[in-house]
Amino acid sequence: MKIKWCVIGAGGIADRRTIPAILQDPDNELVAIMDKVAPVVEKLGEKYGVPTFTDEEEMLKNCDCDAVYIGTPVFCHYEQAMTALKYGKHVFVEKPIGFDAKQGRELVDAFKKAGKLIFVGYMMKYHNLHVKAHDLVQNGDIGMANSIRLQFTCWYPDIPGAWRQKKSLGGGGAIMDLGVHCIELAEYILEDEIEEVKAVYSTRTFSYEVEDGAILVFKTKGGVLGHIDINFNIPDAASESKLEIYGSKGYIIGKGTLAQEEVGTLSYLYAPQGDYDAAQSRVTYEPVNFEGEKGNLYLKQIQNFCSLLRSGKLDYTFSDRAVQVQEVVDKVYAE
Ligand SMILES: NC(=O)c1ccc[n+]([C@@H]2O[C@H](COP(=O)([O-])OP(=O)(O)OC[C@H]3O[C@@H](n4cnc5c(N)ncnc54)[C@H](O)[C@@H]3O)[C@@H](O)[C@H]2O)c1
Repeated sequence: MKIKWCVIGAGGIADRRTIPAILQDPDNELVAIMDKVAPVVEKLGEKYGVPTFTDEEEMLKNCDCDAVYIGTPVFCHYEQAMTALKYGKHVFVEKPIGFDAKQGRELVDAFKKAGKLIFVGYMMKYHNLHVKAHDLVQNGDIGMANSIRLQFTCWYPDIPGAWRQKKSLGGGGAIMDLGVHCIELAEYILEDEIEEVKAVYSTRTFSYEVEDGAILVFKTKGGVLGHIDINFNIPDAASESKLEIYGSKGYIIGKGTLAQEEVGTLSYLYAPQGDYDAAQSRVTYEPVNFEGEKGNLYLKQIQNFCSLLRSGKLDYTFSDRAVQVQEVVDKVYAE
């Protein structure tokens, strides 16, 4: 089954990652692109050889498509996804699903009611090492997973006009942009939901109005304790992406895996212990090391979306989780 696509938002992620991923499948067809900035969308239209629009309704009225990809700033997601639904389209919207859980819930419920798929761009869970971490945890290979920590940082300085730096456009700062990936990934790996969360955050290095750093601590429904460090104010070269899960029989440690590429390494240590050892005379166990597959996470998520459409299996598990992620963020910002 051929899937015809319209794209709303011709910016960074659409051009760099999603449109190329859509076009890798010969059974996908790019029909048209819309962006509110005419020179931006015209340039992309020329690049991909498709008609362009500066109004989404005009595009949806005039173009025959099955699915709409929304790669616009967060403040646009809700309205544009609802507009696409009005025209009977399936939607793949970038993360986060909306400004808050209320918008997210309304969206998912509306799509469910209409029998259309809504899918949210959390691509980290397709990383082979995150799948490995998920499988190790779910198979009990580190015993009972007791503690999880994720760290995801970058350098994001003051940029005049940047939507991510305005609360009214991005909905928040480092938490809304990077933190949501960590929350979603933790819930995917643990197959659990964050129930209690506390956070501290500040704007320290830059002068924009949203936070440039945050620490979240949380407890899941199943009792796992977690910790997320997110920063916009650490140079890229000094940034560490880490995933650490400690259990009653060992650990899983990922380095460099929270990224846009399928890179990094994962170490798994199985180190069961019997009695309490007051002398702490540790037995040495060797970890098993795994490497990233260097595949394309964006292609994997497009393939997942397309396979759901082609099989007619409208699975809302991930979109429900995207709403749950916003519930956690809402709690953080409400404090
Ligand atoms: N999953 C990922 O790896 C990842 C990475 C980057 C961005 N994102 C997400 O993708 C989305 C876009 O981020 P980006 O970095 O590409 O932003 P961007 O600023 O590079 O691009 C956004 C585009 O949307 C256009 N736009 C703004 N308002 C519009 C409107 N009302 N209608 C149509 N177009 C409009 C802008 O002109 C711009 O071309 C955000 O939700 C972001 O969180 C996801």
